[in-house]
Formats: sequence, C-alpha cells, structure tokens
Amino acid sequence: MDPTNKIIAIDGYSSCGKSTLAKALAGKLHYLYIDSGAMYRAVTLYFIRHVVPVNDDRKVMAALEDIHIDFHIEPGVTRISLNGEDVSDEIRQMHVSDYVSEVSAVKAVREAMVAQQQRMGRNKNIVMDGRDIGTTVFPDAHLKIFMTADPKVRAERRYLELKAKGEDTTLEEVFENLAHRDYIDTTRAESPLVRAEDAIVLDNTDLNEVEQLQFVLDRL
Ligand code: DC
Repeated sequence: MDPTNKIIAIDGYSSCGKSTLAKALAGKLHYLYIDSGAMYRAVTLYFIRHVVPVNDDRKVMAALEDIHIDFHIEPGVTRISLNGEDVSDEIRQMHVSDYVSEVSAVKAVREAMVAQQQRMGRNKNIVMDGRDIGTTVFPDAHLKIFMTADPKVRAERRYLELKAKGEDTTLEEVFENLAHRDYIDTTRAESPLVRAEDAIVLDNTDLNEVEQLQFVLDRL
C-alpha cells in the first residue's frame, strides 16, 4: 500500500447503515467511496441469470473469467455495472439478497473480489465498507470501524427502505433474510465477518446519521 494514501475500513452486519456512514465520510473528506457488498451482489446476479451453482468449480471459474465489474463514481452517486450493464438497482432486490451470502462464501469469488478491491485502493484515499475490509482486504487501513445495531432496528430500517422502493416484502421476511445472512457471513470458512482487533466498535442503534459521522471524525 502506498503509505501516503488513506484507507478507512467499515465492516459490520447487514443493514447496519455502513453505506450511509461510508458515503457521508467520503463526501466530507473527499475520499472515494467503494461499496464492496455491491460487487458480491453483482456476481450473485450473474450467477442467478446464468444459473451457476456455487458448488460447480468449473462453472464458477468460467463465470469469474467472464464477469467485469466497474464503478461509475460521480459526486453523490455511485453506480455499478456488470459487463457494461448498470445493475445498481437490481442488485438491491430480495432475489439477490436471498442468495448473496451463499455466493460470497465461495473461495474463488472472494479471491477475485479482494484482488479487485485492493487494486481500487492503490494510491487513492478511500472509504470501503463490507465484511472483511479491515481484516483481509486492507489489514493496514488507517482507521477501522466495526458497526453493529439491534437486529430488530436493522430489520425495520431495511424494511422501510425496501417498501419505499416498492418491493413487495414483509418485516418478517426481511428479519429472516438478515438473520440468515448474519449466520452465513459470520460462520463461513473464508474471511468470516469478525471484528479486526484494532477496529473501533460503533453501535448505532440509538445514533442518528450526524452523530455517527461525528463519532468517526472524532477518531481520525
Ligand atoms: O453490504 P451488503 O449487505 O450489500 O452485502 C451483501 C452481501 O455480500 C453480504 O451478505 C455478505 C457479502 N459481503 C462479503 O462477503 N464481503 C464483503 N466485503 C461485502 C459483502
């Protein structure tokens, strides 16, 4: 890593508000924001569309060869494309959320994504959020935050977001999806979600966005 560039790693459970905080920080500090979860979601969408079983090594490798993910970053908006197609909205839908933890537990998928994430962080100041940023992708990050919040509060926030986008879902369904993803994300063999020893814990159950941003700025 170029010692002069700065990396802020934000890890934590699903729907803890990592991306909201990461975007606010990146905006305030004029850093680049990279949503690593969106990359796993884009791979998942490809696997769904092309019917790639996660346990078929040959098909997984062929898929990874064919997958090209790009970010288009403009002030305030980041879009992600999969092989040239803007998939920013579709990757947030429940059919992708339901399958993304299985896909992101595959070793070859993780290796490909981590390599791309490390390339994106070269010589740039970035804020990256995910599950393994402080432990695996950038173990030398300048600041590591580990976010957590009450699971019921997380489910309610996510449910309201999905409803606002017109998704037909229930609070119970969202709660189950989060619990399922937490379980797989924390128990998988490859880079499970764990707090890096030097990460600062931020429980945002009772904090608003301004308070969370200040919490991090105070620790820079
Ligand atoms: O942050 P998110 O909910 O959009 O992430 C979607 C999934 O991707 C999540 O359930 C686990 C996986 N993920 C991962 O394994 N490693 C990362 N660095 C980011 C996300």
